[in-house]
Amino acid sequence: MLEPEISKLLNNQVNKELYSAYLYMDFSNYYYEEGLDGFGNWYAVQYQEERDHALLFNQYLLNNGEHVTLEAIDKPDKEIGGLKDPLLFGLEHERYVTSLINNIYAAAKDANDFRTMQFLDWFVKEQGEEEKNAEDMVKKFELFGSDAKGLYMLDNELKSRVYSAPSLVL
Ligand code: FEO
Repeated sequence: MLEPEISKLLNNQVNKELYSAYLYMDFSNYYYEEGLDGFGNWYAVQYQEERDHALLFNQYLLNNGEHVTLEAIDKPDKEIGGLKDPLLFGLEHERYVTSLINNIYAAAKDANDFRTMQFLDWFVKEQGEEEKNAEDMVKKFELFGSDAKGLYMLDNELKSRVYSAPSLVL
């Protein structure tokens, strides 16, 4: 059993992670439609990672005897007006997700819920990596994306990103 407030926050995070997956699927589709298959691939891997995050929160709740309430997932609402937009939205979104994880962590700390804190440690580290990846994408685009040859090479590089299952196993 978990404290009701912690359970509610973790339930909410299942929804938030699924929204993240949905958002990145939208970005992936956008790039594929624009003919940038490497960017499309990069975000396709990203949405698989987000789906995994949702499943980890789901499994943690189940492992602790908690009921999981699946709410409606919001529609991706970012207006994409150019090739750089998803990268900026992605960075902004990851910073937001970090704040959500920190918020759950703070609530778990206040409740002396050491088990949940330990579970969240993986996500604290993961968010550091997620923000760094999103920052790198923006930086690379700013360096190479403004000229056709550079964009072509960057897109080719991004084709090499492959999905790997999360290192956290519950
Ligand atoms: Fe689930 Fe991109 O954080």
